[in-house]
Amino acid sequence: MLLTSDTYSYRDGALHCEDVALDEIARRVGTPCYVYSSRAVLSRFRAYDAALEGMPHLISYAVKANSNLSLLRLLAGAGSGFDIVSGGELYRVVQAGGDPSRVVFSGVGKTPQEIEYGLKSGIHAFHCESEGEVALIASLAARLGKQARVALRVNPDVDAGTHPYISTGLREHKFGIDMAEAEAIYKKASESQHLAMEGVSCHIGSQILDMDALLEALDRLLELAARLRKAGLPIRHLDLGGGLGIPYKPSDQAPNIAEFAARVRQRMAGAGLLLILEPGRSIVGDAGVLLTRVLYRKTGASREFIIVDAAMNDLLRPSLYQSHHEILALREAPRGTVRADVVGPVCESGDFLALDREMPNALPGDLLAVWTAGAYGFVLSSNYNSRPRPPEVLVEGGSWRIVRARETYEDLVRGEQP
Ligand code: LLP
Repeated sequence: MLLTSDTYSYRDGALHCEDVALDEIARRVGTPCYVYSSRAVLSRFRAYDAALEGMPHLISYAVKANSNLSLLRLLAGAGSGFDIVSGGELYRVVQAGGDPSRVVFSGVGKTPQEIEYGLKSGIHAFHCESEGEVALIASLAARLGKQARVALRVNPDVDAGTHPYISTGLREHKFGIDMAEAEAIYKKASESQHLAMEGVSCHIGSQILDMDALLEALDRLLELAARLRKAGLPIRHLDLGGGLGIPYKPSDQAPNIAEFAARVRQRMAGAGLLLILEPGRSIVGDAGVLLTRVLYRKTGASREFIIVDAAMNDLLRPSLYQSHHEILALREAPRGTVRADVVGPVCESGDFLALDREMPNALPGDLLAVWTAGAYGFVLSSNYNSRPRPPEVLVEGGSWRIVRARETYEDLVRGEQP
């Protein structure tokens, strides 16, 4: 089972996050409810940071994975930068006390307002995905009397070998600029005094379990940086994006962060470039769980259902990507296991957390934890079926606090007119 002694463990039969029993949180806060371990988040961040110590680097945590202000503050305090994809994410970083000069702005469709916000905030760099975007940044920077630091996000045409919805590095994808076209765009853009064409970047996909794909992308980026420098461009940073996978199933062989970072470091040695990484999932994924209570048991014509109070609006990943999340009992299973579907109250057949899975034999009233839900969990939640979104709790050692309140019915209709 995916338990790590420093974060989640059973003590006296009760599942704990750090030194807090999860059923205490569930009883006090109610369910469904997200819980995050601050220790896990910091230890993953430090694993990257320590492996790169001594070489110029910036870990820009990908805010989209989990944008709760308390996690952003925690990471900012540890020295993290941030990878953002919207003005809203920049606003969150600033609210959390993050340093805009450590922010890179990715994304295929930045609006003029978002670009202006980034320019005025003094972010580290824009990662541009089209010639049109480069031109727009140049004209907005000119209007504001500024010079924008820019990297092109190129498409290294490497197969990340991950789920098609979260694979981004092939030529057929909407992301990035074709390697073959990039050099001409760099040269043209560098003629503008309002652009500093300083970086090369890529992001080939997410939940990548084979780190060789990432290293291959790195090699292609290093070659591009060398070619651009030879042509006289002052390339200063190389951003390899995010993407390192984590184990969702006990059988998943996920890459080790420190080993990955060490191999990146080896290849970068002597290149004279600032290395930027944009990890999201590998920092927060296994730090979080979603707590849920069993409402009913039901025996269908051909299968057994465990009906719980969390649904696809709370955690979309199983429905959207057929992703696997282990499900654990908060009290060590006294009743053995059962083969069942775990489903929520939403009116969709696609509303499930697990299908046809050997499960703790949980009965109505029992509490369960949906595992590895820290990344792309709450951020993908919605109010579908007019369900208030769940609260978020941060654990630090033996203490815990609510870092986002459960939404109310009033929250559901805020801004609407009858
Ligand atoms: N940088 C860029 C430009 C990205 O697009 C992403 C993720 C990241 C960094 C962070 O990647 P990570 O280290 O988390 O793999 N909702 C999907 C994942 C979508 C990832 C989108 N981009 C899921 O739940 O699996």
